[in-house]
Amino acid sequence: MSDNIQTVHAGAITTIRMARPEKKNALTASMYTAMADAIDAAVADDAVRVIVLAGEGGVFTSGNDLREFALAPPLGADSPVMRFLATLAGCPKPVVAAVSGLAIGIGTTMLLHCDMVVADPGTKFSLPFINLGLVPEGGSSLLLPRMLGHLRASELLMLGDTFDAAAAERYGLVTRVSASGAAEAEAMALVAILAAKAPTALRLTKALLKREGGTVAERLVQEGQAFGQQLRGAEFREAMMAFMEKRPPSFAGG
Ligand code: COA
Repeated sequence: MSDNIQTVHAGAITTIRMARPEKKNALTASMYTAMADAIDAAVADDAVRVIVLAGEGGVFTSGNDLREFALAPPLGADSPVMRFLATLAGCPKPVVAAVSGLAIGIGTTMLLHCDMVVADPGTKFSLPFINLGLVPEGGSSLLLPRMLGHLRASELLMLGDTFDAAAAERYGLVTRVSASGAAEAEAMALVAILAAKAPTALRLTKALLKREGGTVAERLVQEGQAFGQQLRGAEFREAMMAFMEKRPPSFAGG
């Protein structure tokens, strides 16, 4: 457990907050472990429908704690940082990030595994690995070229320059740029919408979006199975009833 990670449950929403503002929320091994544990707990809790990642003090995170990096390099697939990344990447429930101030290193690469990202216009993003004599992490060498194309990904990962929220939105790294100072409020508005959606349909949608590879023909079959399951299920039934009764649907379960 880490005092620098605060986890708050409110209704169907779990917020995991990086809270080490005196170090710009730089992430330590114990913070990675606490975040991975918090995600695991949120996934296991049927009442939780959406997970939020946020920072404290107007900053998302300045990335890995560089002192700890130097003193105790996180080596191996079972290191806390690797466990956090694997847990986030494999999280079956929607994850929304509210980003402001700084999103450096893993502060940017963790966003590649989120489903929606709302960024304050003043946020500075960077992938400075090359400037530290390091290489890409967090799956970014695979995901960035896929999302941005090879040339843009090379620019970000080979030059390691800072870029702003408007550029991040243009690159497709953030869903939207908020009004100044309103990233978390606007993210929570999106989260409230997500939390009211049919939870099983939402999870199946995420699973389909995250599914790797395969052919269009295979995907048609996979979607068809999930579609058929939902057509026969309670969520579609409730959506139909709500339509007939001219009221908003209310989806139970988790
Ligand atoms: N690891 C460890 N400590 C960090 C840190 C990090 N990633 N980022 C910030 N800090 C610490 C600073 O050392 C400083 O500590 P101190 O008060 O004991 O000296 C404190 O947080 C405040 O940071 P400071 O540098 O004074 O704030 P700033 O607004 O001038 O600059 C940054 C903020 C983030 C631009 C700058 O601290 C920085 O470049 N940090 C390193 C970012 C990085 O390379 N991350 C790793 C990516 S792999």
